[in-house]
Amino acid sequence: MAQTDRLSLPFENGAIEIPTDGSILVVNAQSCPAYDLLPKDRTTCLQDFFPTHAYLARSGFTFSQATGAGHALAIVHLSRSRDENRAHIARAYEALATNGILVIDGAKTDGIESQLKAVKKFLPVEGAISKAHGKVFWLVKSNQPDEFAVWSKALNPTQNDDGYWTQAGIFSESKIDKGSLELVPHLAGKLKGIGADLGAGWGYLAQQALTANPAITKLDLIEAHAGALQCAKLNVTDERATFTWTDATALPANNSLDFVITNPPFHQSRKADPALGQRFIDSAARLLKPTGKLYMVANRQLAYEATLDASFRTVERLSQSAQYKCFFARKPKL
Ligand SMILES: C[S@@+](CC[C@H](N)C(=O)[O-])C[C@H]1O[C@@H](n2cnc3c(N)ncnc32)[C@H](O)[C@@H]1O
Repeated sequence: MAQTDRLSLPFENGAIEIPTDGSILVVNAQSCPAYDLLPKDRTTCLQDFFPTHAYLARSGFTFSQATGAGHALAIVHLSRSRDENRAHIARAYEALATNGILVIDGAKTDGIESQLKAVKKFLPVEGAISKAHGKVFWLVKSNQPDEFAVWSKALNPTQNDDGYWTQAGIFSESKIDKGSLELVPHLAGKLKGIGADLGAGWGYLAQQALTANPAITKLDLIEAHAGALQCAKLNVTDERATFTWTDATALPANNSLDFVITNPPFHQSRKADPALGQRFIDSAARLLKPTGKLYMVANRQLAYEATLDASFRTVERLSQSAQYKCFFARKPKL
């Protein structure tokens, strides 16, 4: 979660002054050394991803789901999604008071150069500093009409090619994930009682599970990305569904669920990280009853077998394709 201190540079060299008055907004807040320069009592952070949100909230920052208005300073950290970044920039700019300062910080791999070019088409950029394979640039809000306001629409859910509601920056926003598609046929008629979908995304797997299993009484869609969960609420209208914004790997053990379904995430940065999926398996084992069942799909190259064997008494590989493998595990080891 550690970040470079690129963002500190324009504040430390005097190019931008931290306003002595007025509120400060940080969009897509990260763990960032520059925040030591910000007055905590006047700073509001936005962060959609629950684990990062929870980490920063523990360090005393105030969080909101809305950008608010009239800020003296707004900071946007780029993510990997171009359209989500544009929406964050447009929303942060809109939330500034006239003469407020917008600061945008990002790595080259997150497209900071192309965002700079795109912003320059609309507004003069006051300054930019390159450091640590990225850039920080800033501009001042004018009282002219805001020409890039249209960018903010990317965070409004729209229907994708498969007819599901999605928005910029969430997992598999343009189409149904192929891994979830491979798991669905294994679920029909197999689930009953109370269960959870760990990492439910915009809800495809959960919606299919509910449709194919009338014996489900409740299915909790557990998802860390608030935007994905917002879309899941539009896609999964079955009244047996509930929705929880949290970290699926940090749930307390309760041994109460009849089943868990999951298509776990396999990276947080660009690199595949099997440890993430392994934590999902551990979590499933802790949540399930002694008779509980886990249905899971994973990328074929990721090694989950040892973790499944360590956590469950019975593990079966249901199918394997060129890209994915589906597992059925039961009887969690307590
Ligand atoms: C491979 S996707 C599966 C999405 C969904 N089940 C589907 O069928 O499309 C994994 C999901 O896990 C979410 N995720 C990542 N880390 C998480 C965490 N710690 N807790 C809960 N969800 C998480 C991601 O945001 C993503 O939506």
